Amino acid sequence: MPDKKTYYITTPIYYPSGNMTIGHTYTTVAADTMARFKKMQGYDTYFLTGTDEHGQKIEKKAAEAGVTPIQYVDKIVAETKELWKLMNIDYDDFIRTSEDRHVRIVQKIFKQFYDQGDIYKAEYEGMYCTPCESFWTPTQLVEKDGQKVCPDCGRPCQPMKEESYFFRMNKYQDWMIDYIESHPDFIQPASRANEMLNNFLRPGLQDLCVSRTSVKWGVPVDFDPKHTVYVWIDALSNYITALGYGTDHDELFRKFWPADVHLVGKEIVRFHTIYWPIMLHALGLPLPKQVFGHGWLMFGADRMSKSKGNVVYPEPIVAHYGVDALRYYLMREMPFGADGNYTNESFLTRINADLANDLGNLVSRTVAMIEKYFDGIVPVWDENAVDEQMDNPLREHCAALPSLVEEQMDKLQFSQALVEIWKVIGECNKYIDGTQPWVLGRDPEKRGRLGNVLLILAECIRFVAVLIGPVMPNTPARIFEQLGVTDEALKSWDSLNCFGKLPEGIRVHKGDALFLRLDVKKELEILAAEKKMAPAPKAEPQAAAPKKEAPKVEIPEGCVSIDEFFRCKLRVAKVLACEPVKKSDKLLKFDLDLGSERRTILSGIAKFYKPEELIGKNLVIIANLPPRKMMGLESNGMILSAVEEKEDGSEYLRVLTIDGDIAPGSEVG
Ligand code: MSP
Repeated sequence: MPDKKTYYITTPIYYPSGNMTIGHTYTTVAADTMARFKKMQGYDTYFLTGTDEHGQKIEKKAAEAGVTPIQYVDKIVAETKELWKLMNIDYDDFIRTSEDRHVRIVQKIFKQFYDQGDIYKAEYEGMYCTPCESFWTPTQLVEKDGQKVCPDCGRPCQPMKEESYFFRMNKYQDWMIDYIESHPDFIQPASRANEMLNNFLRPGLQDLCVSRTSVKWGVPVDFDPKHTVYVWIDALSNYITALGYGTDHDELFRKFWPADVHLVGKEIVRFHTIYWPIMLHALGLPLPKQVFGHGWLMFGADRMSKSKGNVVYPEPIVAHYGVDALRYYLMREMPFGADGNYTNESFLTRINADLANDLGNLVSRTVAMIEKYFDGIVPVWDENAVDEQMDNPLREHCAALPSLVEEQMDKLQFSQALVEIWKVIGECNKYIDGTQPWVLGRDPEKRGRLGNVLLILAECIRFVAVLIGPVMPNTPARIFEQLGVTDEALKSWDSLNCFGKLPEGIRVHKGDALFLRLDVKKELEILAAEKKMAPAPKAEPQAAAPKKEAPKVEIPEGCVSIDEFFRCKLRVAKVLACEPVKKSDKLLKFDLDLGSERRTILSGIAKFYKPEELIGKNLVIIANLPPRKMMGLESNGMILSAVEEKEDGSEYLRVLTIDGDIAPGSEVG
């Protein structure tokens, strides 16, 4: 028997400085979804997550709370593990950087770097950002309100001078540039590779300060114990220490390294695609196959973060609406790679539209009709009642669905994979409208036809149930229960290799609605009231200063508030096709790619552009205008443009385009 193919996926190891938010949950759910998908496909998977526990920030937080650093992090780690259980996160290992198995190997790695001349000792003087644990050179700092601040987080930096060890990053600069250029899949999305090359590598890579004498809560440098290892050297090593690298028990390392993908937020791509590869190269180890830098879950205009105090926690959402609804929303709402906004409103609207209406109704209608017309027994296929024209498009589409989903999943395009599944769900609902089973049910001669229609629908639902499993692990069992599928083989990825395996004669069971339809307005009120009453998150230090109420800002006449502005959803849209509208000399019809969807927009700019000039351009659109009919066609949004009024009264118009390469669907604001 050949060995099973392996798949190793990781999340960042999170700082346990406070409770994990919906942002940390986002990355972890994505990794879990991917691991479940690969496992379902038969891969031997390994999914690693954990906590990055050392450093000054934790030291400070613990002191504020009046406890030792390990007491402080132990509590948050326990709560993090609870949260991952709640979120149905099925990790294989949870590594903590305070664990002995990690500390010993970090010391060994550091010593090896020193012995082989990659690390040297010198005096360091620079500006230090405590929250980010990063040193910056004067040219890297950015100016904000007359102050030089950290380019990552925007907070002030302090001058710092200390004797330190340095890693000769500069020695590997050319090798690193070469590697990134010759491995286009290494950094994804590709735009982030350009950012690394242009902003960090080509301008010249500085040697990196890799030890601290000012930080006690860290891995001691064993041959010079007044130093502790810089947290990023410590933290990045987790991806191999967790596999037993450098020990006598390195079977997991030999089996799973190099990782297939490190999932990280875009703010830490630099550490994972420059410092980490150089460390690995210096150790003589292969590099991870891919680092995927996903976008941020935003809250209004800001990245959600504990320090900004605009955090959403997953627990209350799960308590109200269930874990699968939240997992679905996180994976569906924004393309992986782009930023997206979390709002209670968009969450509730999605549950209603996609889960309660599209999926829930399809299952309940199909099961109800099998009960009504066939006493709950899945009907027998009738060769004489086939309507190829009606049935084949749906059957073929559904049969092709696993490979469409696989294609998107292999690119980590979770939202697109779900779009593919929901296209089949939509087609099933249209098939019900087209075949009108309630009409067939009135005519005894059409019983064979009615049976075929319901059998096709039930089989499509089986496909959907299998394919949504990695995103929504609890829902398939509820669907299989209603469909009466008990055979485990029919719940597997392999069983989707051909359409039509659902056995005749099994008994369906009408159950509760999969997802309840919610009254959005009422739910919003409940959530808002709860937020007001919510106690401070459990692990926030008691000594934290009370937050000031934001001052009420009067909006002068003629101005809009920032909230009003953000109600307008501006998005990047790539022009896939553009053509003139028949019988109109003004209108152009655009077929646009918005990342997670295709859109048609009509725009009255035919006088100013030839359609072919616009194809491939990244435009800016208003995406949440109500649909509008023009010349018998529906337009869904508006393309933004600038108009100049010439002296002769004529107009000159140019559309707004985006400078550089950015994922379609990205927010503009
Ligand atoms: N400890 C480092 C990572 C070391 S990895 C060797 C760290 N920790 S963190 O607690 O700040 O976690 C950051 C990560 O959490 C992001 O890179 C991202 O994966 C996830 N996210 C936290 N908030 C997020 C959002 N608001 N939106 C999207 N992802 C977010 O950095």
